[in-house]
Amino acid sequence: MSFQSNRPVIEVDRIRKAFGPTIANEDVSFSVMAGESHAVLGENGAGKSTLMKLLSGLIRPDSGSIRLVGRQVRLKTPRDAHAAGIQTAFQELTLIPDLSVLDNMMMPRAAVNPLAMLRRRLAARAVSDHFAELGLEVPLHRLAGDLDLATRQKLEIARVLYRKPRILLLDEPTSALTGDDIDWLGRIIVDCKAQGVTVLFISHRLPEVRAFCDTLTILRNGRHVRSAPVEAVTDDEITELIVGRSMKSAFPPRMARSQTPAAPVLEARAISAGGKLRDVSLSLPPGQILGIAGLQGMGQKDLFAALFGDIPLDSGEIRVDDAPVHLRSPADALHPSIAIGMVPEERKTEGLFLTLSGKENASLPVIERFRKGLLLDADAEARATGAAFDAVEVAARAQYLPVSAFSGGNQQKIAIAKWLVAQSRILLLFDPTRGIDVGTKQQLYEWMHAFAAAGGAILFHSTEIPELVHLSDRVGVLYEGKVTTWLENREISETEIMRAALGGDGPREAAA
Ligand SMILES: Nc1ncnc2c1ncn2[C@@H]1O[C@H](COP(=O)(O)OP(=O)(O)OP(=O)(O)O)[C@@H](O)[C@H]1O
Ligand SMILES: [Mg+2]
Repeated sequence: MSFQSNRPVIEVDRIRKAFGPTIANEDVSFSVMAGESHAVLGENGAGKSTLMKLLSGLIRPDSGSIRLVGRQVRLKTPRDAHAAGIQTAFQELTLIPDLSVLDNMMMPRAAVNPLAMLRRRLAARAVSDHFAELGLEVPLHRLAGDLDLATRQKLEIARVLYRKPRILLLDEPTSALTGDDIDWLGRIIVDCKAQGVTVLFISHRLPEVRAFCDTLTILRNGRHVRSAPVEAVTDDEITELIVGRSMKSAFPPRMARSQTPAAPVLEARAISAGGKLRDVSLSLPPGQILGIAGLQGMGQKDLFAALFGDIPLDSGEIRVDDAPVHLRSPADALHPSIAIGMVPEERKTEGLFLTLSGKENASLPVIERFRKGLLLDADAEARATGAAFDAVEVAARAQYLPVSAFSGGNQQKIAIAKWLVAQSRILLLFDPTRGIDVGTKQQLYEWMHAFAAAGGAILFHSTEIPELVHLSDRVGVLYEGKVTTWLENREISETEIMRAALGGDGPREAAA
């Protein structure tokens, strides 16, 4: 390797970057050695992605400097960054859904000349080899848009690795990954480091930071607050530096909820849907949080989509208030007589319109409710959206800015706020805390408790098992499209959920 491991490869010196009145980076300085993996941590909107974009040549700093291997550089365009050996997997996935996997891998070098066919064949060979090396099994002819979120996330990573970076920037690469896929990325990072590649890694999950990173930098409100070796700081210290206050426990204490069995508001009777989900029955009374666990691809997406009217049932029945309902579309689910809301997995594509303001996005599904005759009651609308933004800790000014001006995590929060405005009685939350910072997570947990305590019903899928353990009254574990195990109260533990998720026996059998 051309790098000497005793000198910094990346030196960021007193970087500042503002967007209008928003100071996204201020006085940010840190350095990273060759072959080192460095975490960048901070709340939603702290300035992490901004820093990555500066290092990727997408935006330019207002002041401050960047040195690479000791030489000051001006990264005016992504091309400059590429030339310097920098490759970035962005937080907002950049694959083009209408193009094949192969075409996406070849981008931006689209084949348009007479040699195109030959180049394509060569590229297909090279990409296959590259995938084999990474242990990635994705057919090259598949359209990127047909792949699930985790696979697209892995492709995004595979694509930057294909260009053999010397500096690898990973902006929340694991937010759409779980279990084995996170381990997969861990092995890639180890390989990269062994080859002298320097890695910047953004994540809201501390276990990953500990597993993958040597050093870290923490930003708060755009400002640099601390850089240190990972082992020099405890989790509590890191959390405190991130949120600027001490936080004793991630999860709020359980609220006492009425234990009297109430009639279910939502029921599924032996539903099958989407090709994955088979014969699933569940019953959700008001005031309950019903957890759904399962490794990726066990049918949870189909379950949530079917209950929201997004995909048709193949068989079985959905009942609301003890009467059968036919949900032909999400509009049916949203109807006030049913009032089911959903925070979907793919919030960027299914959840938000990036050019509309936060307020418009939040009130869109239920805009009719704010109509007074022919006019819109703008005050009522603003009050409702304002209250919802408050609940998810999004600044009030977000109401009037286009969602595209928001950090990734803040966009997620707006997608959640949307369903608070809709005043659903039944909420389907699909991994709602993905990409959300620690402080806001806690806020969201408290909000879920309060929603249930007030008589709301929540069906909740999370890829973070501790969330299911701490928040759910009951947990159903999906294995190959079926709920194989139900856990209640004291039975709910990470071990039991994992055992069932891996296809093992339920707790009683295991105990026998
Ligand atoms: N194009 C833009 N126009 C206006 N403001 C912006 C723009 N991009 C980012 N910002 C603002 O800069 C701040 C930092 O955003 P950034 O995306 O860097 O946060 P982040 O740390 O990556 O957060 P997250 O964890 O949510 O991804 C935020 O307040 C954000 O709203
Ligand atoms: Mg970000």
